[in-house]
Amino acid sequence: MYENPRLILDSSNPPEPDSVVWRSPSNLAIVKYWGKHGLQLPRNPSLSLTLSASCTDTALEYAFKEEADNRIDLEFFFHEEENEAFRAKTLAFLESLTPQFPFLRQLHLTVRTGNSFPHSTGIASSASGMSALALCLCSLEDRLFGTLQEADSFDTKASFIARLGSGSACRSIFPHAAVWGTSPDVPGSSDQFAVPVEDLLHPTFKDFHDDILVVSTAEKSVSSRAGHALMEGNPYAEPRYAQARTRLAHLIGALRSGDLETFGKIAEDEALTLHALMMCSNPSYMLLRPDTLALIEKIRAYRADTGHPVYFSLDAGPNIHLLYPGEIVAEVRGWIEDDLKQHCADGWFIQDWVGEGPEEI
Ligand code: PMV
Repeated sequence: MYENPRLILDSSNPPEPDSVVWRSPSNLAIVKYWGKHGLQLPRNPSLSLTLSASCTDTALEYAFKEEADNRIDLEFFFHEEENEAFRAKTLAFLESLTPQFPFLRQLHLTVRTGNSFPHSTGIASSASGMSALALCLCSLEDRLFGTLQEADSFDTKASFIARLGSGSACRSIFPHAAVWGTSPDVPGSSDQFAVPVEDLLHPTFKDFHDDILVVSTAEKSVSSRAGHALMEGNPYAEPRYAQARTRLAHLIGALRSGDLETFGKIAEDEALTLHALMMCSNPSYMLLRPDTLALIEKIRAYRADTGHPVYFSLDAGPNIHLLYPGEIVAEVRGWIEDDLKQHCADGWFIQDWVGEGPEEI
């Protein structure tokens, strides 16, 4: 899809050196994507909320190569320092994208990128990082060829490219909420790219918080890539995929009507299902930490005691995402300071919220 051999620069009229810069957020899946096939295709549809504070800034600098060759020239800086491991990964990704962006071989490229949070901690740095890079590539194509003028075409291609980098990244392109994966409940949905679903959100979910309680900043012991692969032999895989489809339909109903209780029940069930699938993989593994469990118990007790609609989710890591509507932000932040912070690494938590999606800066 999107292969276009005509996107080749005219060497008699080369572009001036310049750059494109995007800020792109992470996202939190409420119905999770866990299990894939083929070229980053999901086994079930997923729905995420787009975050704000957890984001990646990426600048893509380009200059026309004087000497034509067949390689992609790339320099890579992560937080202003050269990073060979990230450079190699990004180079392999860009090489795989030359059918979609053949002009990349004609340019000298420099990527300067940085996150507002640590990478590989279960805060989806791949989602913000890959979506920021995909947006830069699509902006570059549009600047050089004028081929992505329509906002919808631009977003869809950016989502498609982001998906090839990291599945969940395709959902970060859109404001407030997105669905990735074909579902009869979402017109226009696709396994190839995500679609925006902000129109179906009750206003409650547009003013919604996701504070990330950072239990550990250590790198994950098992990567998401390995975790997805382990789903292939998991005896619960098929029922799980069916369950995700049913939960997506119920979640959409709750998002439309503003039903916080159903939303929260699905969010928590999905988080625990994700980690249960890891625990019953072969080999089994566990990313939850004692402080994760202590926080879950405290969240349940607080909800029972106060009646406040506060729920948790988890990504593929030990950190808790605390989900709640904007109207109780003051109470919840006080509670985090007084009681929850002690379970966070160095008392660290990220105040995040549902946001407007990526911006070109
Ligand atoms: O996009 P990946 O391959 O890093 O997978 C991420 C999967 C989860 O974050 C655990 C769930 C999701 O849907 O985002």
